[in-house]
Amino acid sequence: MPKFKQPKVTIIGAGNVGATTAQRVIEKNIASVVLVDVAGGIATGKALDLAEAAPVESHDRGIVGGSDYELSKDSDVVVITAGIARKPGMSRDDLLKTNAEIVSSVAKQALKYSPDAVFVVVSNPLDIMTYLTKKVTGLPSNKVVGMAGVLDSARMRFFIAEALKVSVQDVTAFVLGGHGDSMVPLARYSSVAGIPLSALLSAEKIEEINKRTRNGGIEIVNHLQTGSAFYAPASSTAEMVESIIRDRKRILPCCVELNGQYGLKDIFVGVPIKLGCNGVEEIIEIQLTDSEKAELHKSAEDVKVNIEKLNSMLG
Ligand code: APR
Repeated sequence: MPKFKQPKVTIIGAGNVGATTAQRVIEKNIASVVLVDVAGGIATGKALDLAEAAPVESHDRGIVGGSDYELSKDSDVVVITAGIARKPGMSRDDLLKTNAEIVSSVAKQALKYSPDAVFVVVSNPLDIMTYLTKKVTGLPSNKVVGMAGVLDSARMRFFIAEALKVSVQDVTAFVLGGHGDSMVPLARYSSVAGIPLSALLSAEKIEEINKRTRNGGIEIVNHLQTGSAFYAPASSTAEMVESIIRDRKRILPCCVELNGQYGLKDIFVGVPIKLGCNGVEEIIEIQLTDSEKAELHKSAEDVKVNIEKLNSMLG
């Protein structure tokens, strides 16, 4: 590990998403990383491989891996990517039971060593796993945040940039709601260098982009056949980690517990938040039209059904 004090991020699950997130976090010089996996050799091996790339990549962030949670002691951020990934024909909800067992076990173990950390949940089905992490750790709402909106919005931004043949840098987009088929791409809050999307693209083209955004995950699963997306999920996770570690207070769409905002209560769903060193520092309520609000409520309802399914499974 490094010779001087550095922020520390533990990533649980050294698979595609976890290892790629680790790479982004150290190579963007954000923090040192501990990779923890039930397959300890995979975590140790990938961490050593990434550490050996450091001289070439020219950074001094440390990275170690293994199966022992003691390695994770005193982390500032804990990222949960452990679980199984989707295969063709599987919805995110099919992952529910298996990943619930894995996520609740890893969250409890990580909490023992890092009770002050902000927990960032990535495992799917995302909104339910974020709820579960909050429930089993007993952490306050601001300390548990799920990664989905940044990824869904990144996909939407890419599709907009592609349609207009402009730089992705000038495109902003917002996707709210659950990380499932009923997510809510918000074209009205999407723009290119400040120009509203509706001034640049036809309603049909915007609807096509919304649809492709909703199906962004399955489009990749169908190509890969053996697993799900990981490069863009890892970039999105690293962006959230950076905002927490460097206390940047970025405004990002993330999955959080709502307690009355948007007319929703006791539910985890994606909305714009301010993300800083204390985790969720503010939930931002934007004005929605009646139909946008109805879509958000429908998406929250889908999450609620699965939370109830999970609670009946857990007994
Ligand atoms: N404790 C620690 N690690 C575990 C455990 C556990 N109990 N169970 C499984 N893992 C590890 C696996 O050993 C594997 O290395 O989780 C890792 C998952 O990696 P992949 O199979 O490559 O899956 P990945 O593509 O990284 O997706 C992980 O993120 O985006 C979501 O839907 C995706 O839920 C999935 C998760």
